[in-house]
Amino acid sequence: MRVNDILESQNYTTTTVALITSELDGRVNVMSAEWSIRVSIDEFLIAVFVGYERATYQIIHSSGEFGVSYCSDEQGYLAYIAGNYSFKTHDKFKIAEFTTFPSSHIKPPLIEGCISNYECKVVDEFRTGDHAAFIGKVLAGYYDPDKKPLVFHKGKFHYIGTRMTHDHPF
Ligand SMILES: Cc1cc2nc3c(=O)[nH]c(=O)nc-3n(C[C@H](O)[C@H](O)[C@H](O)COP(=O)(O)O)c2cc1C
Repeated sequence: MRVNDILESQNYTTTTVALITSELDGRVNVMSAEWSIRVSIDEFLIAVFVGYERATYQIIHSSGEFGVSYCSDEQGYLAYIAGNYSFKTHDKFKIAEFTTFPSSHIKPPLIEGCISNYECKVVDEFRTGDHAAFIGKVLAGYYDPDKKPLVFHKGKFHYIGTRMTHDHPF
């Protein structure tokens, strides 16, 4: 059964959720972004697509740096809070228990408990429709082999499934 529906079809892609950290005058912000992905191997670049109306947009635009912390499957609540409240009106760090650790190369800290974290310096910014693309050069990367990713599908958070081992080598 194939359904012809542009808008609804978007719900049938699968992404993960990154917690994007940024810092303005010593105040840290955190925002959820499912549109965040590696876009170059050598050099290692990560793109994050940020709506112009987000507080995060102004902060990254002026500071030129951001942290990317990919959520583990224990962090659905954090992804919900970071993605439904704005720095403009709320201190998200007071609403939920975001724990951070310091970055080595950028000012904004990274979020603890994630499956992987990256420190990025903006090397390019351009418009993609109604979002800004920030291209970040990765200066440091961390991972936790004991964590599993948060999966975002049909507008909901999921656990990752089991690996396929039959019929093919992948
Ligand atoms: C699961 C999830 C994924 C999101 N992905 C993005 C995204 O990729 N880009 C974006 O601009 N906003 C995204 N948002 C919305 C922002 O996180 C939301 O508008 C947030 O409140 C912005 O915070 P700020 O104003 O403090 O920057 C997402 C929200 C959720 C819940």
